[in-house]
Amino acid sequence: MSDVDLTDDGAGGNTPDDGLNESTLTMGVDPYERNWMRLTIGLLVVFFATISVAGLFMGFQVTGAYTEVDPRIVLDSEPWSEPGLRKLANGDYEVYVVAQTWSFSPREIEVPVGSKVTIYVTSPDLQHGFKITDTNINTMVVPGQVSKMSYTFDTVGEFPYICHEYCGSGHAAMYGTVKVVPNDSGSAAPDLDEDTSSDEEAAK
Ligand code: CUA
Repeated sequence: MSDVDLTDDGAGGNTPDDGLNESTLTMGVDPYERNWMRLTIGLLVVFFATISVAGLFMGFQVTGAYTEVDPRIVLDSEPWSEPGLRKLANGDYEVYVVAQTWSFSPREIEVPVGSKVTIYVTSPDLQHGFKITDTNINTMVVPGQVSKMSYTFDTVGEFPYICHEYCGSGHAAMYGTVKVVPNDSGSAAPDLDEDTSSDEEAAK
């Protein structure tokens, strides 16, 4: 590491006439400058490691534009004309969320504990944010784009979601709640072997 060759052009002003003799220089680089270079390289290594660990092991991901929509007509077309929760299978849900000035539709999402929820969110007007407290769900909501994320809610409780992008006078009123309820509420249907997909079994 100490042999990094960063030397050639930086030392133009440093000649022995500056009062620095060759013994205080390493390959023409002032010791202070060298230490700043080390610090800079060290920080880059730390940042790279942080991002790598977050991306590879902690589920952080870039939320891409899953698909594009026309914000002028999006609320008139399926499925955005009826935002809300849909059950795909036991323990597997999707929810379409519209973020607009100044509310979320739906304002409440209720799922049984252990459910995997895939969230699609878009905006018909201007840029909003969507963040679910105590999860890693956190995205910009950009008109014309649909952001897609998934999360498995493994603990019972309430998880508020908010708009975290300032969007005007009603910004602070943009919030809602994910309610994660115990599994035995509602119909007590045992969800064994219905038309069991083997990966759902494996997920348990
Ligand atoms: Cu929407 Cu702030």
